Amino acid sequence: MGLAPDKDWWRHAVVYQVYPRSFADSDGDGIGDLRGVTSRVDHLRRLGVDAVWLSPFYPSALADGGYDVDDHRAVDPRLGTLDDFDTMLATLHDAGIRVIVDIVPNHTSDRHEWFRAALAAGPGSPERDRYIFRDGLGPNGEQPPSDWQCMFGGPAWEPVGDGQWYLHLFAIEQPDLNWSNPEVREDFLKTLRFWADRGVDGFRVDVAHHLAKDLSGDPLPSAAELPLLHEVVDGTHPLGDREELTEIYADWREVFNAYSPPRAAVAEAWVAPTRRHRYAQPTGLGQAFNFDLLQASFDASEFREIVDRNLAATAETGSSNTWVLSNHDVVRHVTRYGLPDGGRDLGRGWLLSGGVTPDVDPVRGLRRARAATMLLLALPGSAYLYQGEELGLVEVAEIDDDARQDPTFFRSPGVDVGRDGCRVPLPWAAGAPSYGFGPGPASHLPQPEWWGELAVDRQDGVPGSTLELYRAALRLRRELQGAEELTWLDAEAGEAAAPGGTVLAFERPGGWVSVTNFGSAGVPLPAGEVLLSSSDLGDGVLPGETTVWLRR
Ligand code: GLC
Repeated sequence: MGLAPDKDWWRHAVVYQVYPRSFADSDGDGIGDLRGVTSRVDHLRRLGVDAVWLSPFYPSALADGGYDVDDHRAVDPRLGTLDDFDTMLATLHDAGIRVIVDIVPNHTSDRHEWFRAALAAGPGSPERDRYIFRDGLGPNGEQPPSDWQCMFGGPAWEPVGDGQWYLHLFAIEQPDLNWSNPEVREDFLKTLRFWADRGVDGFRVDVAHHLAKDLSGDPLPSAAELPLLHEVVDGTHPLGDREELTEIYADWREVFNAYSPPRAAVAEAWVAPTRRHRYAQPTGLGQAFNFDLLQASFDASEFREIVDRNLAATAETGSSNTWVLSNHDVVRHVTRYGLPDGGRDLGRGWLLSGGVTPDVDPVRGLRRARAATMLLLALPGSAYLYQGEELGLVEVAEIDDDARQDPTFFRSPGVDVGRDGCRVPLPWAAGAPSYGFGPGPASHLPQPEWWGELAVDRQDGVPGSTLELYRAALRLRRELQGAEELTWLDAEAGEAAAPGGTVLAFERPGGWVSVTNFGSAGVPLPAGEVLLSSSDLGDGVLPGETTVWLRR
C-alpha cells in the first residue's frame, strides 16, 4: 500500500497512540517492545488508522513511564534496537501508516550524561548551566530556593549536597533543562533531525509550554504568589507559556520544513484555550492538542460550546483541530462516562478516592463512550485515539500498591493512585497467558482476571463489538471525509436539538450527518440513510446515549 503523498495528512489524520511498554511484548519479559509493535501492524491496518504516535521508547529508568529520557537518540535495550525501529517504521509505512515520535524537551532523566556531568562539575560550571541549578537559602543552602511543588506532589527542588538545588517540575528523576542555554537548543535540533532523517513523519512535543522560564526573581516568588498557569494569558508566567517559546518553535519549524514533505508536530500544551493557537501556528509546531472534550462531561451543551470555540480558533490560525477523549495520562473515557458526574475533571476525583468507588457504571460508560467517539470521529480535523479504546477498555482500579509505578502515587501516598490504570498491557487473546500481550505470563502491570473478555480475538468479526464499531467508523470516515466544514442542524433535528437540549446534530460536506442523543430517553430519528450507529436503533427512534451517522 505505502504512503500516499500528502503534505497535509496531519490535518485530518486518525492518530493512534501506542504506549510501547504496554502494547505488545515480543520476547516475554513483560515489557512491550518495538518488535511487538511490528507484529501488530496488521491490527492497526485493519483498524484503519492513518498514523501512530509512539510514547517514549528511549532508554529510561522508568521513573515516569519513559518520560524520563536518558538519551533521546537511542532505543531502550529492553524495547529493542535502532534496527528494530527502522523495521517497525518501514512495516508501518508499507501498511500506509505514518509515524509520530514523542520528544521530551522540558527535562532529561537524572541518568542522562549531561546531568551526571552537571553533578560532577559543581556550582557555576557550564555543565550545570544546561539545567536549572540555584543556591539554597539559609546559611549553608539547606533550604530550597523556593517552596514550589512539582506536578507529582512534593517539592520541585532537590538538593545535590553542595548547597545547590536543581529544579524538577515533574519527578525528582526529571531535572528541568535550561532553554536559555544555546547548547540545549542545538541538541534538540539535532534530535529532531536524527529521527526525521530516519523517516519519521512527525513529533508530539511533551509539555511544550514549559520549556522557557524566567527565574530571575530574587527572591523567587512563593508558591502562593504564583498564579495558575492557565490563568495568565500574556506570556509572563515565570514557569510556562512564555513568549520566548515562539522563537524556539520557529527554529524547530525550520528543521521540519527542510524535509519533503515537511515533518508535522503537535504540542501538548496545558494552557488557556485562548493561548493554544500560539503553539499551533504554521510558523511554529503547526498543531496543538485540544483537551477540552477530554475534560468535559457527557453533556450536549458542553460539547457544543467546545466544538464551536475550537472551530472558530482554528479558522483564525489556519491550523486544524485535534480531538481527544483518552490518553496515557487520564482515566479512560469509558470509566469517566460511567461516573455519576459523567466524567468532569478527567475523572480525577475518582482516582483520588482510590479508584474503588462502586459508583462506576461500566455499561453506561461504554454506551456513552461509543457515542462520544463516533461524534468525535465525525468532526473536522484530526482525531487522536489511545491504544485499547478500540476495545472499550476501562480504567483498571484493582492494582495493588506494591505493583504501582506512577510517581504520582509515590509522591502522594494513598491520596492519588495515579495513571497506571490506563496503562495496563493490552489483551489480544482471551485464552492466552498475559492475554496475548506477550508469549508468556509476564506483564509489567497486573492484568485483571476479567481482562480477557475485552480481548481483540473476542471482538474480531463480532457484529456490534466495540472493535468492529471502530473499524466501521474509520472506514466510513475515510470515505466521507471532505472539506473541514461543519453545519449545525438545529432545526432539522427537532426540539431536543434546541440550545440547552440533549441532541447535537451536524452535517459535513457531501451529506454526511452525525446525530448524538446525550439524553437517556429516545428521540425521533432524523431522515436519511443510516450508515452506522453506536447502539442499536429503535424503529424510527434514536435511543438515549447514542450517535448515528446518516447520509442524505
Ligand atoms: C506529559 C506526559 C506525561 C509525563 C509528563 C512529564 O504530560 O504526557 O505522561 O508524565 O509530560 O514528562
